Amino acid sequence: ADGLLADRYGRVARDLRVSLTDKCNLRCTYCMPAEGLPWLSGPQLLSDDEIVRLVGVAVTRLGITEVRFTGGEPLIRPGLPGIVAAVAALTPRPRISLTTNGIGLARMAPALRAAGLDRVNVSLDTLDRDRFTALTRRDRLADVLAGLAAAADAGLTPVKINSVLMRGTNDDEAPELLRFALAHGYELRFIEQMPLDAQHGWDRSTMVTADEILASLHAAFALTPDPSERGAAPAETWLVDGGPARVGVIASVTRPFCGDCDRTRLTADGQVRNCLFATEESDLRGALRDGADDEELARRWRAAMWAKRAGHGIDDPTFLQPARSMSAIGG
Ligand code: GTP
Ligand code: 5AD
Ligand code: SF4
Repeated sequence: ADGLLADRYGRVARDLRVSLTDKCNLRCTYCMPAEGLPWLSGPQLLSDDEIVRLVGVAVTRLGITEVRFTGGEPLIRPGLPGIVAAVAALTPRPRISLTTNGIGLARMAPALRAAGLDRVNVSLDTLDRDRFTALTRRDRLADVLAGLAAAADAGLTPVKINSVLMRGTNDDEAPELLRFALAHGYELRFIEQMPLDAQHGWDRSTMVTADEILASLHAAFALTPDPSERGAAPAETWLVDGGPARVGVIASVTRPFCGDCDRTRLTADGQVRNCLFATEESDLRGALRDGADDEELARRWRAAMWAKRAGHGIDDPTFLQPARSMSAIGG
C-alpha cells in the first residue's frame, strides 16, 4: 500500500533533496580543505537512471512534491539536463529546483529551463573579487555574477541568493549584498554557519547569528515581518522598505525550525538521510542493485523517515557532527 514519508513526531516529508555529486569546483573555507576531499568513486555513485528511478518512487509512491538537486556542485554532473527532463516527465510533476554555486550556470541556464527546471538558488557570500577568491580559493566571482543574470534571463525565478557570513571575513557586507540583490531582483537569504564542515572547525563564536545579521540590516533598511505563510521553509523572511522585495535569514542554529521540517535527502551514493544532521543512513542503492522492486524501495524509505529525530541537537552537550560533511550530504 502507498503511504507518505511520515515520522513519529507527525512531520511528513514533501521535499526531496538529491545530491548529484560530492565534488565541487570551489573550495569554500567553511566547507572543505584546499586539497578537496576523498571523492566518491564512479561505481559508488548512482547512475542517472538510478537517480530517476528513486526520485520516481518518491514522487509517485511517497508524496514528494518538490525535488531539489544539490551537490557538491550539481552543475558539474554531465547528466543533469537529462535527469531534470526525466523528473519533469513524472506524474504528478514535482516542482524542480537547483542549489548551485553558479559556475557554469551562464552557459547552462537556457537548457536547464527547457528541460523543466523551475528555479535556482545560488551561493554568493561576497561581492568583492579578492574576498571571493580568498573565501572560495578560486577567482570565479565573474562567473557567478554571469550565472545569476543568465538564470534570471532564462526565467529560473525567483532567483535566490544564499550568503554565509563569517566573522572578520565578510560580516560587514550584509547591507551591500542586500542592495545588490534588490537592484537585480534576486531574493537574498543569509545562512547561519552550521557544524557541517569537513574540517570540523565550526565554532559558535565565529558564527554570525541571525540577531547580528538583522541588526546590521536594520541600520540600513526598514524591515517588517513578511505576512506570507512560512510553512516548512527554513528561511524566516522580512519585507524590505515596505516590500514587495524580501530578505531572509536561515537561522538553523539560533532559531531552529526542525519541528516543521518537511525534508528527506538522497546522497549521491544512494543513501537516504532523514536529516541534515542524521548519524545514520539507509542504503537504497544496495537494495536497488539487488533487484528490489519499487514497493520495497518505498517501504525502506518510509522506515528510514520514521526514525527521524525531533531535532538536530546542536545545543546538546553530546552533539556529534555527522560523519559526512555538507558537500557530501547535499545542503
Ligand atoms: P527554498 O525552497 O528555495 O527556500 O530552498 P532552501 O532554502 O530550503 O534550500 P537551499 O538549498 O537554498 O538551502 C539554503 C540553506 O538552508 C542551506 O545552508 C541548507 O543547508 C539549509 N537547509 C536546507 N534544508 C535544511 C534543513 O532541513 N535543515 C537545516 N538546518 N538547514 C537546511
Ligand atoms: N553552514 C551553513 N551553510 C553552509 N553552506 C555550505 N556549508 C555550510 C555550513 N557549514 C551553504 C552554501 C550554500 C548552501 C547550500 O549551503 O554556502 O549556499
Ligand atoms: Fe562547493 Fe558549496 Fe562547499 Fe562551497 S559550500 S565548496 S560551493 S559544496
